[in-house]
Amino acid sequence: MKQFADPVPHGTTTRVAFFGHPAHAMLVPFPIAFLVAVFASDLAWWHWSDPFWARMSLWLAGGGALCGILAGIAGTAELLAVRDIRRRAAAWSHFVVAVMLLSVGMANWGLRLGDAEAAIVPLGLYLSGLGVVLVGVAGWLGGTLVFEHQVGVLSEDEED
Ligand code: HEM
Repeated sequence: MKQFADPVPHGTTTRVAFFGHPAHAMLVPFPIAFLVAVFASDLAWWHWSDPFWARMSLWLAGGGALCGILAGIAGTAELLAVRDIRRRAAAWSHFVVAVMLLSVGMANWGLRLGDAEAAIVPLGLYLSGLGVVLVGVAGWLGGTLVFEHQVGVLSEDEED
């Protein structure tokens, strides 16, 4: 039903999807898990000084950055394809925080490509911690889009 009182209609469909399921929502669990785990792995290296944790952090940082870029491409395609997503302030806030997160994630990975152990204290730990905060804010705003604004949840025939 059309919401005349609300300049931004409630709910949108998804255009970047597999069989009606939003691709972005399917991809985001991977960078979220990797980017949180790299902080835990950095803390483990700081505590035990076992090179295993430095290698683990290197792979987690790389996986988080690359999967984050894949998820970001799907999210950006959705943003560009659906006008009613572009009309929501929460969508742009989410986009800005996500781009900051991906920049921090790439820097955190690049830093470790030389000497994975030397990179951890202090800069690696700082970037991993900042990544966790940005994951939290980006995830919160993404959740706001889905659960409050009902972005990507309507079927094609329900759309205005
Ligand atoms: C870089 C550009 C990005 C854009 C333009 C973007 C856009 C969007 C959009 C439009 C939605 C609504 C659901 C949909 O239509 O698929 C969404 C949801 C979400 N996004 Fe992003 N996103 C980006 C990156 C990221 C990143 C890097 C993360 C986290 C690592 C993230 C986490 C989330 C989460 C957790 C949701 C809620 C998904 C759900 O529960 O279904 N996004 N995003």
